[in-house]
Amino acid sequence: MVRILVFSGSVRSGSFNARLAAAAAAELARLDADVSLISLADYSLPLYDGDLEANEGIPDAAMKLKRQFCAHRGIFIAGPEYNAGMTPLLKNAIDWVSRVKEAGEKPLAAYHGRVFALGSASPGGYGGFRSQMATRQVLEIGCGALVIPESCAVAAAHQAFEEDGNLKDERTRALLAACCASLVDKARSLT
Ligand SMILES: Cc1cc2nc3c(=O)[nH]c(=O)nc-3n(C[C@H](O)[C@H](O)[C@H](O)COP(=O)(O)O)c2cc1C
Repeated sequence: MVRILVFSGSVRSGSFNARLAAAAAAELARLDADVSLISLADYSLPLYDGDLEANEGIPDAAMKLKRQFCAHRGIFIAGPEYNAGMTPLLKNAIDWVSRVKEAGEKPLAAYHGRVFALGSASPGGYGGFRSQMATRQVLEIGCGALVIPESCAVAAAHQAFEEDGNLKDERTRALLAACCASLVDKARSLT
């Protein structure tokens, strides 16, 4: 079974992106993936600072998160849009993970040999799509990761989910399903 990691770039209570992450996890499980839905709240990290890294080394949470990345063949990230970019929480996590290099590994090991998919949810009309563009740039160009072109942006996110967590809109549901199917296919092809 192909292993897929899923998390949100927001840990806000009631986060729409956490709901999207949960919907993606359910869809990926339907596709017979072995899904790990995690919260960045369980990987609390200081704001990256080169002096901190030099003096104290890599924080345990960064090592733990990097090993989670490496233990999965695919990663789905649901990221909110802050001022047309990604959240500082998500960028900080990506940056810390990029700094982890275990014995015998090449740099950026967590970003190679696996495939990423992006989603976003926002009360706004673009559904946080611009955060996906920023995250795609960081992952692809910055970290050398493979990011699939299929994605899912959930506009008017405050009205987009049923009580049970399903997406109300058929077209958005289809986008999420297509994104998850592509992620699983690509991840399987890498194993
Ligand atoms: C600092 C800040 C900047 C924001 N900028 C944008 C933006 O550029 N585009 C957008 O659609 N929503 C923007 N929002 C609204 C967020 O999309 C909204 O708060 C969303 O619910 C956050 O995701 P979450 O529900 O997963 O926590 C911004 C929110 C904050 C706090």
